Amino acid sequence: FATVETIELTGVFDAHVHLRDGEMAELVVPTVREGGVNQVYVMPNLVPPITTVEQCLAYRERLRAIEPNVDYLMSLYLHESMTPETIVEAKKAGVWGVKSYPAGVTTNSSSGVVDYESFYPIFAEMERQDLVLNLHGEVPSTPSHAPITSSSSDRAVTVLNAEPAFLPTLAKLHSRFPNLRIILEHCSTAAAVAAVRSCGPTVAATITAHHLSLIIDDWAGDPHCFCKPVAKTPEDRDALLRAVVTSEGKFFLGTDSAPHDVRKKRGEDRVAAGVFTQGWAVGYVLDALAKGVERGVVAKEKVTREVLEGFLGKWGRAFYKVQEPRGETVVFTRGKARVGEVVRREGLGVEVVPFRRGEVTWGVEW
Ligand code: NCD
Ligand code: DOR
Ligand code: ZN
Ligand code: ZN
Repeated sequence: FATVETIELTGVFDAHVHLRDGEMAELVVPTVREGGVNQVYVMPNLVPPITTVEQCLAYRERLRAIEPNVDYLMSLYLHESMTPETIVEAKKAGVWGVKSYPAGVTTNSSSGVVDYESFYPIFAEMERQDLVLNLHGEVPSTPSHAPITSSSSDRAVTVLNAEPAFLPTLAKLHSRFPNLRIILEHCSTAAAVAAVRSCGPTVAATITAHHLSLIIDDWAGDPHCFCKPVAKTPEDRDALLRAVVTSEGKFFLGTDSAPHDVRKKRGEDRVAAGVFTQGWAVGYVLDALAKGVERGVVAKEKVTREVLEGFLGKWGRAFYKVQEPRGETVVFTRGKARVGEVVRREGLGVEVVPFRRGEVTWGVEW
């Protein structure tokens, strides 16, 4: 891998994307194929969120109208207005899963979940219908004015331990619904990697491109590297790199590419969470693995063709039980692309600053 100049793969599957709607969708949907991806699992956190099958199918049509040559696997936003009948209807309509956002944790999550038990009838129906439950695995932070007590059970939650604090919920849901396919999305800690490994084959996790390289210091002060869950310690990042090469199908790519207009990143008092990686995501993954090899975190003989094919497509598709949709291959060439300073298009009123702007990475050719 360290010396390979080109890699040919089947069209990449990105198991976690934010494609938004309206002008932002016009801007970012074309970057899916530009990045070598031809199949995506689409997040439902629009404003308002996608909570009905009808909204979901209409959204898929809008995405198809922008770029028909991508297979969009759709999801619903877990919401108190849903009933088990919604799940039955979703299955019939070809919806693949339901994403749960804890209330208040991240972008457009104000209508998210507070108490998981109240959704058990939904999860039971999802288990029967074989829909996937996608977890945003963080618990809400403790407000800064709350008293901090010494008992460990109510230790204050911050962005740094919000994911580890969620892991008991993952274990509980898995033991209560052992046949329910669950994905811990964008896992960001060594603790999460271990927790996912200790679950049975119905539990997997996605790993983003950016969490394979970022650590805390990268986002402390840089809005373009700030996302939820936040990037953690070097040890956590290295555990993610090792999870890629020892995945055995349990860890696969879900970029969580999350575009925000540049004014939400540079121009307002509060910075929106999200790193935009869509158009160059595979290059970022390959570069991060190369750095991991250089630093001795990942043995170079572990970065096999099987691992790259698996992490970038096969394993995610196997977990979702979908086929590569178009019989396409794509070639990635080392050093052949330079990330733009900004992603913009004539006539659109939004602009996005991409991850690692201005840097050289792998080129993409269909
Ligand atoms: C090479 C291998 O497996 O022989 N790695 C790979 O194809 N990913 C070794 C290498 O190029 O370092
Ligand atoms: O950083 C993030 N941004 N994390 C999420 O989970 C949501 C996403 C978004 O929608 O912007
Ligand atoms: Zn999320
Ligand atoms: Zn996301």
